[in-house]
Amino acid sequence: MKVLLAAAADADRWREAFAARLPGATIAVWPDAPPEADYALVWRAPADLFARVRVRRAIFNLGAGVDALLAVPGLPAGVPVLRLEDAGMAEQMAEYAALAVLRAFRDAEHYAREQRAGRWTPLPRRDKRDFRVGLLGAGVLGRAVARTLTVLGFPLAAWSRTPHAIAGAAVYAGIESLRPFLASVRVAVALLPSTPATRGLLDAERLSWLPEGAHLVNAGRGDLVVDADLVAALDSGRIASATLDVYRAEPLPPEHPVWHHPGIVMTPHVSALTRIAESADQVAAKIAAIERGEPVSGVVDRARGY
Ligand code: NAP
Ligand code: GLV
Repeated sequence: MKVLLAAAADADRWREAFAARLPGATIAVWPDAPPEADYALVWRAPADLFARVRVRRAIFNLGAGVDALLAVPGLPAGVPVLRLEDAGMAEQMAEYAALAVLRAFRDAEHYAREQRAGRWTPLPRRDKRDFRVGLLGAGVLGRAVARTLTVLGFPLAAWSRTPHAIAGAAVYAGIESLRPFLASVRVAVALLPSTPATRGLLDAERLSWLPEGAHLVNAGRGDLVVDADLVAALDSGRIASATLDVYRAEPLPPEHPVWHHPGIVMTPHVSALTRIAESADQVAAKIAAIERGEPVSGVVDRARGY
């Protein structure tokens, strides 16, 4: 079996991880480009990868979001593209979302500000029943976040393309239900893929559907949000805070207003990092299943974009 690895970073660790799990496979590491490979294992695939290498059996994305891979020229039409499913990311995303939600619920910004000003300003206890958290995206990561927030006692709503029953969460599905969903939540946590249907979704109008003083967390993809509209909503106080992990450009250019906005907490795309061992376990198990002729999960629907 011939495998091509184009992992963008940590190439040696990825190669070792796959060599241990795919005994007998020949593993070429980009920029080594054999004319053909059975499997390609890629993250941030180089633009000329598919012009140089003919991939026969499957292309594995070494991350959950496939937006970048689907945009690579010459991605072969008949070859399945698979994404990572959890592989150690769901636990991290649940931590990230819980931290952001708890910061909002427990008025962390207020107490940080008051400490800097040398003021002793206790606020009354909030009622969690009035602090519904809404998940945009009820996939692998959204469901993990829901489980953690449920343990913390937050009422939940989940919005997705198709309806999903999540224990304890109000279910919303489809674009026509976005307005009532957003209107019903105090914190919106976005865990959506970047697709033609989600890019620019949270613009001025949709952000205005959130209640006054709501909080936004975006850890899916940066192009979900229209940055200027978010900054305007924060400036006007309509949105109380935003926690952002993903951006339209990464790294964000130094002059971008998001860097220094007092209402924004930024992290550099670290909410759920790819775990090499877990990811290699998952990919190797799927390659073995494909070789046995068995079906595998995590196959991307290219028309849908995720
Ligand atoms: P997933 O299992 O495919 O879930 C995607 C969810 O989004 C599904 O519930 C899906 O609805 C929903 N969705 C897609 N398009 C929609 C639309 N137009 N309207 C409403 N809902 C829509 O993916 P995942 O594993 O949870 O990952 C989600 C995303 O997180 C990835 O695509 C990636 O961009 C991002 N991510 C970020 C990090 C980070 O470190 N910041 C790490 C990993 C992943 P259905 O259930 O109805 O299909
Ligand atoms: C990270 O952003 C991923 O999509 O895995």
